Amino acid sequence: MKFLITGAAGFIGFHTALKLLQQGHQVVGIDNLNDYYSVKLKEDRLAELAPYSEFKFIKLDLANREGMAELFKKEQFEQVIHLAAQAGVRYSIDNPFAYADANLIGHLSILEGCRHNQVKHLVYASSSSVYGLNEKMPFDTSDSVDHPVSLYAATKKSNELMSHTYAHLYGIPTSGLRFFTVYGPWGRPDMALFKFTKAMLDGKAIDIYNNGDMARDFTYIDDIVEGILRVARKPPSANANWKPEAGSAKDSSAPYYIYNIGNGSPVKLMDFVKAIEDAIGIEASKNFMPMQPGDVYKTWADTQDLETITDYKPQVGVKQGVNAFVDWYRTYYQV
Ligand SMILES: NC(=O)c1ccc[n+]([C@@H]2O[C@H](COP(=O)([O-])OP(=O)(O)OC[C@H]3O[C@@H](n4cnc5c(N)ncnc54)[C@H](O)[C@@H]3O)[C@@H](O)[C@H]2O)c1
Repeated sequence: MKFLITGAAGFIGFHTALKLLQQGHQVVGIDNLNDYYSVKLKEDRLAELAPYSEFKFIKLDLANREGMAELFKKEQFEQVIHLAAQAGVRYSIDNPFAYADANLIGHLSILEGCRHNQVKHLVYASSSSVYGLNEKMPFDTSDSVDHPVSLYAATKKSNELMSHTYAHLYGIPTSGLRFFTVYGPWGRPDMALFKFTKAMLDGKAIDIYNNGDMARDFTYIDDIVEGILRVARKPPSANANWKPEAGSAKDSSAPYYIYNIGNGSPVKLMDFVKAIEDAIGIEASKNFMPMQPGDVYKTWADTQDLETITDYKPQVGVKQGVNAFVDWYRTYYQV
């Protein structure tokens, strides 16, 4: 099968491309290699993919309309796994336009490419942040998510709406995946696990928001990749019984489906910190800080659909996952 993976130099895109290549698929990866975080880390991830003869990397910006149209026409992908985005909640406070370019224009480029080239299935990254002000736990894809608290979340919800439109108008099967705080080897330097590990090994204090009173449904990278690839094998069909007045938010009369991919069990931030301390063997010096604008207090995924439809439930617990990350970090940075 021939796949396009966008954001192939990114954390999740890299792992997804690697798994597909190991399974013998053909993968074209694109990324603009922007400097939101270390470009070296992105290049090093690509260097791990380079030895596979079925891998081709093209440096391309999603917002480059002509370049994207040409790519789709030339390569004729069977499936698209769209993971490139401007990520991060906090960065969206100061850099809102980065999100409009990468996440709104960029998503439209993907939808147009799928529309004009008979792509069989579009799988794309959404985010747990779309749950915004929702308080009902666990977060359920059947619930409406119309009250985001960051521009990042608003662009991700917009991606779901845009995908629904294209599924309805052009019959493109689209599956949106709401990821819940993904972590693991080759992870992102702007996320808590990376920042905490780095600070502890550098002998610096770590910043703990909302005085540590937060919880996240941390999901290990291998579980995310398995979830993505299982969903990719199940393009959604239109639900003939779906009615606008009584229908669920997660599906439609169009071939459209929304999944949560989370571990299904929230972990308190201070327990997460303890797992990192145990893995490194250092007790962290801690700065307790107020809640950050745009952050949510707790995330918790209802993963019933993932289990029922793809027969998979994320497996890796925080202790095992944090240990794997710290092992990778120490080897990669030689500390
Ligand atoms: N990591 C998480 O915890 C998490 C949680 C929820 C949702 N997500 C979503 O999952 C997807 C992957 O996230 P990630 O953690 O791998 O992030 P990442 O930043 O590591 O990867 C994204 C990649 O996309 C590339 N990119 C950004 N803008 C681009 C553009 N305009 N054109 C081409 N390439 C561009 C970046 O260079 C980067 O390599 C994103 O859509 C993100 O919003 C991630």
